[in-house]
Amino acid sequence: MSQISVADLTEAQAVEELERLADEMAGHDLRYYQDDAPTVSDAEYDELKRRNADIEARFPHLQRENSPSLKVGAARSAQFSPVEHGVPMLSLDNAFSNDEAEEFDARIRRFLRLGADEPVFYMAEPKIDGLSASLRYEKGVLVQGATRGDGRVGEDVTANLRTIADIPHRLKGSGWPDVIEIRGEVYVELEAFAAFNKAAEEAGSRTYANPRNFAAGSLRQIDPKISATRPLRFFGYAWGLVSEPFAASQSEALEKLEAWGFVTTAPPAERVQGAQGLLDIYARFETLRPQLPFDIDGVVYKVDDLERQRRLGFVSRSPRWAIARKFPAQRARTILEAIDIQVGRTGAHTPVARLHPVTVGGVSVTNATLHNADEIARLDARIGDTVVLQRAGDVIPQIVEVDLAARPEGAEPYAFPHVCECPLKTALAQEINANGVESVVRRCTGEFACPFQRVEHLRHFVSRRAFDIEGLGEKQLQAFFDEGWINEPADIFRLARDEEKLAALRERDGYGETSVKNLVAGIDARRSIGLDRMIYGLGARDIGETTSTVLARHFDQFADLQAASEAAARGLPGATYLELSTAAGVGPKALDLLVEAGRAGVPADPWPQSEDLELKIGQVVPKLTKPARAALAQRYGTWEAFAEGLAQAAKGAPGEDYLTLAAVDGVGPVAAQSLARFFAEEHNRQKVENLLAELDVQAVAKPKTDTAVAGKTVVFTGSLEKMTRDEAKAQAEALGAKVASSVSKKTHLVVYGPGAGSKLKTAQELNIDMMDEDQWLALVASL
Ligand code: IVH
Repeated sequence: MSQISVADLTEAQAVEELERLADEMAGHDLRYYQDDAPTVSDAEYDELKRRNADIEARFPHLQRENSPSLKVGAARSAQFSPVEHGVPMLSLDNAFSNDEAEEFDARIRRFLRLGADEPVFYMAEPKIDGLSASLRYEKGVLVQGATRGDGRVGEDVTANLRTIADIPHRLKGSGWPDVIEIRGEVYVELEAFAAFNKAAEEAGSRTYANPRNFAAGSLRQIDPKISATRPLRFFGYAWGLVSEPFAASQSEALEKLEAWGFVTTAPPAERVQGAQGLLDIYARFETLRPQLPFDIDGVVYKVDDLERQRRLGFVSRSPRWAIARKFPAQRARTILEAIDIQVGRTGAHTPVARLHPVTVGGVSVTNATLHNADEIARLDARIGDTVVLQRAGDVIPQIVEVDLAARPEGAEPYAFPHVCECPLKTALAQEINANGVESVVRRCTGEFACPFQRVEHLRHFVSRRAFDIEGLGEKQLQAFFDEGWINEPADIFRLARDEEKLAALRERDGYGETSVKNLVAGIDARRSIGLDRMIYGLGARDIGETTSTVLARHFDQFADLQAASEAAARGLPGATYLELSTAAGVGPKALDLLVEAGRAGVPADPWPQSEDLELKIGQVVPKLTKPARAALAQRYGTWEAFAEGLAQAAKGAPGEDYLTLAAVDGVGPVAAQSLARFFAEEHNRQKVENLLAELDVQAVAKPKTDTAVAGKTVVFTGSLEKMTRDEAKAQAEALGAKVASSVSKKTHLVVYGPGAGSKLKTAQELNIDMMDEDQWLALVASL
């Protein structure tokens, strides 16, 4: 995309350009910070930021009041209470080349009046790609945790941060200041991130584009119980307010943090000297990057000596004593050959870019996700276009831009289908979520009527973690489906005893006596099935493997689960109720009071001559706490809106049965609603009934509570040789243990195989019990 270079801009153009940049970046900030769903890469955002800064440098008098260069972070969400940081959380200036890194060193020397041969030490730390948080400790006890927010005021996410095992609730050792704000990065390891996305995809629930969005989305959950299930980690690397100094250098500070119970970035963080040291360590981090268990997007250089840091001070929003040397994004150009639509099990239509093969960052790429219709429109991607691909922390490469200059003549804008790809051509719908926002996902509304969704459901049903039917692979399944032999799960079991069809099958090419026998044996072997697999196999939205296991342990029989779900369906919460239940300041008690008041009838304005809504709310619902009153007054603004909200909330209050189901440990409102909706559908009930007629569903064993590992957290690492990971996990869980993917202070036991790396090292450092696979098997056998 052609752009006038900054040096050539007239003043009038500069005014226009600064306005455009401020607007564009404000939009990006909103999507990044509030929705955790950015539409541009960091590198692109940095480019905008840089252009803005360059124009301001040329025309300082044109700097706008809302200039992006004056902002740190962006708007907070209304869902969390504001927290003012004791000392602002600043951001870092960026350097993109060796020259800029050398200039950083030169600048420091000039400022401190140091000669070229006087030593300056820097801490070089990995720049972790997550989101920063500030933890306030008073007398060694964690009292509050917040996100960065706009740098001055962040969001109170204390409850969510407390669920992270790396964050001590009480500092270890001694010597900590009475009051200290410890700062660092909340992040996720790549392996855990990939595992989460895979499971989410299988469950048909939300996936995240990259580890950073995952960390942000997981930390900013309204329900800390959800954060607790996310494999979040924390690195400590800085501090804000302190009641007294506690170190003389950054390196010493990191040692202190570690002694107090934090995980720090050292190693690989390292103390280096001078400009050459900065360049060398950058090169080392570049080679190290692919081996790290987490993604980094550069190196942070910090002047090590804190007295020097103090003298250097700050320039507007970032410290003069630190800079972030960013890695270049890994990019490549190729041709967009086609846009295919994939129809998922839940009917979601996801566009996929088919690309002319190209290598990006060492990996050959032929597909890229296009996310949704909005994304295609934003890029204005057309078939035949030359596109720029990028792999950053992202697992799946993204298309970041279209080269408009290279567009072939006659290329037509892409028209996203309005109807399902299947022969039924059912209309697609965009869902409206609880907050009244239209989802960007387009879904086929056909459910089981939609042949595409049905095939996906069947695929899911026979998949390895569900019914795991041997001999019935994707190809056979599709063939039987096309033939009309298998339409619903029960048909699979009917086929195995349908002599007529089996006889016909024996006559077919590629089939013979043996393969038919094997197919029948594979199917019959699954007539007896665990309740957990049965539940998971149904493929209801948001009911993944973990939830299925929880449900199977809670309900002894499938019929009990079904009855509980059908009862819950009679009292589902309404939109207003849901909205209120997640509003900041409105706890469960307040919600009950509001529903009670609403049920008693919509009250009249107790004080029409006044505008003070908070006071009025107090009059009508006197038992509400002050913060709840304030939150409601802010939310509704006028008496009329509040009264209407009360009435709606009362109407939408959920029934006891729903609340009971949602309160099952590990289930929650999302799964409860999904189950209720699933069993409310006649066609689903019919299919389940047909299926149950073919099966013998087995209750699952309740986890043991009397074994040596019951209640303990176990981590498996390295390659196991005598069992698969899944087997090891199931074995541990059957013995009452919890299996985690990363090692932290909350880990009790690490079982390692050959090739174990960083996890084993962490376990050693944390003094956690360890054993090899044989020792584990011996332990299991002895229990
Ligand atoms: S120090 C005043 N150290 O980068 C400087 N930040 O662009 C405070 N980050 O908001 C930050 N790794 O989210 C620091 N080792 C590290 C870091 C790091 C990642 C992030 C952090 C910060 C952003 C600034």
